[in-house]
Amino acid sequence: MNGKLIVFEGIDGSGKSTQAKLLSEKLKTLGFNSEYTFEPTNREYGKKLRDSFSSNRLTIDEELDLFILDRKMHIECDMTPWLNEGKVVVLDRYYYSSIAYQGARGYDIEKIKSLHADFIIEPDLVFIFNFEIDKCLKRIEASRGATNLLENKSYLEKVDLIFKKFQGNKFIHIDASLSIDEIHNNILSFVKPLISN
Ligand code: TMP
Repeated sequence: MNGKLIVFEGIDGSGKSTQAKLLSEKLKTLGFNSEYTFEPTNREYGKKLRDSFSSNRLTIDEELDLFILDRKMHIECDMTPWLNEGKVVVLDRYYYSSIAYQGARGYDIEKIKSLHADFIIEPDLVFIFNFEIDKCLKRIEASRGATNLLENKSYLEKVDLIFKKFQGNKFIHIDASLSIDEIHNNILSFVKPLISN
């Protein structure tokens, strides 16, 4: 695979989707072939998951199973072909979200990792957005009018703690309280060296 995989993670309302889309658009203007994509996807399993967030949350096993099925399909049908074509894939949420969200719900984190080990494509960079949870929730209410079953403070605090534990060369923790332009330029400063190799 000669493409690059760049992942955006963080709690709901942290601004990661805005930045992921901005990055993908910017890469196109710079002459790179880029795709913006997201999980849960809009395919069958992703849709089931989204429905469950607004009405009736699934059991933790059902929820994780569906995320994994959705992710496998996403990798097979979209991401692998794009990466083989040399594209820069900008991915809004990946298996780190399963570790953080299903881990925060009580699923064993090592088990979540092992369930992904045999099919995952490792990303080149992972941006993790940090922003005050109260502000994230306010943003969601302002944009959508209401929060869903996952978007409550005590749960998101646990999710955020797990996100903060990802450390290492490819993990970049982003201060999402900065302006949109500042964050975008910060992100570009990490992405440019990666794609000009
Ligand atoms: P979104 O708000 O980015 O569209 O994501 C939908 C929700 O799905 C969000 O609250 C996080 C949650 N989620 C998980 O719980 N586990 C996962 O593996 C993924 C990808 C998302």
